[in-house]
Amino acid sequence: MPARSDLRASPPAPGFSDARVGDFLRDGARAVDAELDRLLPTPAQEDGGIPAAMRYTALAPGKRIRPLLTLAVADLYGVPRSESLPAACAIEMVHACSLILDDLPCMDNADLRRGLPANHQVKGEATAILAAFALLNRAYGLLAGAAAEVEEPAQSEVGRCLSRALGTEGVIGGQALDLAADSPRADLDRLERIHSRKTGSLFIASVEVGAILGRSPLSERGALVAFAKNLGLAYQILDDWLDAKGSPRTLGKPSGKDGRGNFVTLVGAEGAKGLADELVACALDHLRPLGTRGVLVAGLAFEISRRSR
Ligand code: IPE
Ligand code: IPE
Ligand code: MG
Ligand code: MG
Ligand code: MG
Repeated sequence: MPARSDLRASPPAPGFSDARVGDFLRDGARAVDAELDRLLPTPAQEDGGIPAAMRYTALAPGKRIRPLLTLAVADLYGVPRSESLPAACAIEMVHACSLILDDLPCMDNADLRRGLPANHQVKGEATAILAAFALLNRAYGLLAGAAAEVEEPAQSEVGRCLSRALGTEGVIGGQALDLAADSPRADLDRLERIHSRKTGSLFIASVEVGAILGRSPLSERGALVAFAKNLGLAYQILDDWLDAKGSPRTLGKPSGKDGRGNFVTLVGAEGAKGLADELVACALDHLRPLGTRGVLVAGLAFEISRRSR
């Protein structure tokens, strides 16, 4: 994570919002939804309700930002969608897993997710926890080639990448620190580290998985990782901002919930929004080595900077 002093003050360039980006976002999200539907287990008799609980959250209308990042990067290197879509869906399954767990009474105790009652509210806590594990398990199975046509060396690298992102130095560690934060006025550096782990780590993995599948040159992979680090932090800061500014109706989840450790509490709503814009600009800067080839990845970042839910 670059120091905040490295950030440039300019906002993201609006030129990225062209028609190609719009088509990619719409068609990509549709392709992810259809593939998720295909790859998730189908409810059957005497299955204990787990497949239905997995589908309940994973197929609910999320924004599909992380799998779109994987697809955008994989597309950059011409990876066939038959390889990139299952990997992108694995990332989305892991994300859905984290959302189910995050909403539990022992964590954020949230009752609404993606516009629907939270998983545990409908399915019960035990089923929700098992469904979260089942999504995680399915994700690793996919990456190990259960359904993907991915070659052996790339499979192992992708698995290692995801494991690193989710581990104690990544999403799990960040979530633990977030839950342990006892003061909404934790200092800025600590909050940045928590956000970078709990949210930034999966953004990095989303991009890296696409780069690994595409056998990208190491220098470009480094640039993409730096891009995702900044974008992931920006995304969580915007989430804090929306938590303060949005309503459950527009967000599809409760608002005013993220008071434990929060950029808005620390630097105010305008300050948080400004910081997120700077981080997006910094993320876009890292894409320079890709030139015009990076237009879809950049367009996605620009869309994220304008997120309203
Ligand atoms: C919610 O992520 C959790 C965060 C890390 C902020 P999203 O805002 O991407 O949620 P969905 O996938 O669109 O529901
Ligand atoms: C959650 O952050 C990050 C995860 C690892 C799930 P939040 O708790 O802010 O996410 P929302 O606001 O519930 O989506
Ligand atoms: Mg949380
Ligand atoms: Mg939450
Ligand atoms: Mg939040």
